[in-house]
Amino acid sequence: MIKLVLCFMFCYLTTAEPIVYKDCPGDNLGHATAVTLSPCPQQPCTFKHGDKVTVTITFNAANDTSILHSKVFGIVADIPVPFPLPNQDGCRDSGINCPITKGQTYTYTSSFDVLPTYPQITLVVMWKLEGATGNFVCFTFPMSISDSGAVVG
Ligand SMILES: *[C@@H]1O[C@H](CO)[C@@H](O)[C@H](O)[C@H]1NC(C)=O
Repeated sequence: MIKLVLCFMFCYLTTAEPIVYKDCPGDNLGHATAVTLSPCPQQPCTFKHGDKVTVTITFNAANDTSILHSKVFGIVADIPVPFPLPNQDGCRDSGINCPITKGQTYTYTSSFDVLPTYPQITLVVMWKLEGATGNFVCFTFPMSISDSGAVVG
C-alpha cells in the first residue's frame, strides 16, 4: 500500500508530458524532435500561479556551436514579447555540456516559476535555442495561465 502511495506521488511528480508544438516559420538550422512540459496533464498546458514549470527540449544539433542562448517570447496580438527566463544560457545548468557537436542529440532542460504577478491569459509561446550561426530549435505552443485557486483571505 505504501509503495502504491509513493508511486502515485512519485509518478505524478515526475510526469513530463510530451506536448504538441509547431516549428516556427522561417529559416532555422534545425528543429526540436521532442518537447515535454511539466506539470501539464492536459493540453493546451494550463499553468497556475506558483507552479514551477520544467521544460525539456530534445534536438539533433544542426551545426557546431560553443554558445547556446535560450530565448522565450509570449506572442500577444501577433507581437512577440520577450519573457525574462531566469537562465538564458543554454550551456549552463541545462544538462548540455558545450561545445555542441553537429549531428549529436542533446536534451536541454530549464525551469521557471509562474509568478503570481503574471496575467491570467491564454497565449502562444515561442521558444528558441540560438547557436552561433542561427536557431538550432524554434517552436511555438499554446498555453494558459490561471490563478492558483487558493483562497486569499
Ligand atoms: C555552421 O558553422 C560554421 C562555422 O561557424 C559556419 O561557417 C556555417 O555557415 C554554419 N552552417 C550553417 C548551416 O549555419
